[in-house]
Amino acid sequence: MTTPLSPPASLPPASFPPAGLPPASARFAPYEPLASLLLPMLPDAGDGSHDVAHLQRVWSNVLAIAAEEGGDREVLAASCLLHDCVAVEKNSPLRAQASRLAAERAGAILAGLGWTGPRTAAVQHAVEAHSFSAGIPPRSLEAEILQDADRLDAIGALGIARCFYTAGRMGSALYDAADPHAERRGTDDARFALDHFQAKLLHLAGSFRTAAGRRLAMLRHQRMQRFLAEMADEIGQPR
Ligand SMILES: [Fe+2]
Repeated sequence: MTTPLSPPASLPPASFPPAGLPPASARFAPYEPLASLLLPMLPDAGDGSHDVAHLQRVWSNVLAIAAEEGGDREVLAASCLLHDCVAVEKNSPLRAQASRLAAERAGAILAGLGWTGPRTAAVQHAVEAHSFSAGIPPRSLEAEILQDADRLDAIGALGIARCFYTAGRMGSALYDAADPHAERRGTDDARFALDHFQAKLLHLAGSFRTAAGRRLAMLRHQRMQRFLAEMADEIGQPR
């Protein structure tokens, strides 16, 4: 927890400039007002792989992709902020329905803020289609961008960090000591974190929808490949 420092007497009053760190909503520029309304409505499930930092990274990915691809930035901002607004654990039987439940809740939240039907529906579709496990094909540019932006955070250095973090929460081992690379068995990513790369993460780069997303995904895919080679070397079983 960060404790703001008291300013020396020679500095201007704390209100100008504001003391302390900027609020989480500041990272959603230029939609800070929307973010400051929506962030307090989101669940805090104590999951560090689906927290406000994840939303901030997805927004930064959205902006990078939208700079090349276009898209309605306000619909994208609301979609990004609300895409995980219903928390469902990875190992829950409700997992495949999580994005549909989130779309439903997003609709109710935006209706409460006075959003119109078509714009709310645009957000709801992007939210329901973003998820890997839902299997809903995106039908709009905004839905494609959100799916790519969220998926970018599942690969690369952040993907590695989130994979091992989630494995720890689920009580998985780092890898199978007898067969780290699953060469003589099927992959089992519920038991072994390393198996999640073969089972899912190494296949994601081929699933991106936009040209910008595909390019960014390839960089992150290569980071994962480098990490896996180094991990295999340190395990003592190079590939
Ligand atoms: Fe997400």
